[in-house]
Amino acid sequence: MTGFDPLRLGPRAGARVAVVGGSGGMGRVLVRALLDTGVRVAVLDLPASLAENPPPTDAMALAMDGSDAASVEAAFSTLAGDWPQLDGFVNLAGLFKGLQPIADLPVAVFDEVIAGNLRCHFLCARAALPLLHRSGNGSLVSVASTMAVDVEKIFEGVPEEVYAKRVPMKRMAQSQDMAGPILFLLGAASGFVNGEMLIVDGGVYTQ
Ligand SMILES: NC(=O)c1ccc[n+]([C@@H]2O[C@H](COP(=O)([O-])OP(=O)(O)OC[C@H]3O[C@@H](n4cnc5c(N)ncnc54)[C@H](O)[C@@H]3O)[C@@H](O)[C@H]2O)c1
Repeated sequence: MTGFDPLRLGPRAGARVAVVGGSGGMGRVLVRALLDTGVRVAVLDLPASLAENPPPTDAMALAMDGSDAASVEAAFSTLAGDWPQLDGFVNLAGLFKGLQPIADLPVAVFDEVIAGNLRCHFLCARAALPLLHRSGNGSLVSVASTMAVDVEKIFEGVPEEVYAKRVPMKRMAQSQDMAGPILFLLGAASGFVNGEMLIVDGGVYTQ
């Protein structure tokens, strides 16, 4: 059983957390929150995203295409050189190409979506797990979309104000809304949460 500090939401100060997609919208908020609470952070992201939104200088930055096996292997080998173990791993990488009927979906788009989502999360989890195991109780958080449980189609193509009215919380999500739940899942207070799907959508899925 792990003890936890009721005043601390996220991982302990000094913990090492790697964030794939840490230069994106949610990633930048999460990385800032982790650093602000004394957690050490490595951001792994596409070279173009690292160039467009460079991580804070106190975070490690590693260029990587999470859908490319060789690139993942190289990035995690560099990471393991500095950090032989990880306390937390978050994957925020994702790709959305719109909803299309199967009959109209080009094979190339299907392949791109599978590579940018499923393959990327598989390859990165496979590379992160040995480092997480070395810390004894590392946490792995993979962020997906409620598209995976097929509820967002009622929002496809609708203007933002209409979308917001259909959300029980009556507003769109902000990146900050995601950082808190991810910090909780990385922290000791969620130490017995395992294999769980936490939906953060303002109540859309359960309404
Ligand atoms: N923003 C939303 O409204 C929303 C809604 C539902 C789900 N999501 C999911 O949440 C996650 C984060 O969302 P966001 O808004 O921060 O997205 P974002 O596009 O702002 O950031 C995603 C980050 O992932 C990186 N990335 C993409 N493919 C990659 C790859 N192959 N290898 C390495 N890095 C890669 C991008 O460079 C980017 O920095 C995504 O998986 C997204 O699908 C977002």
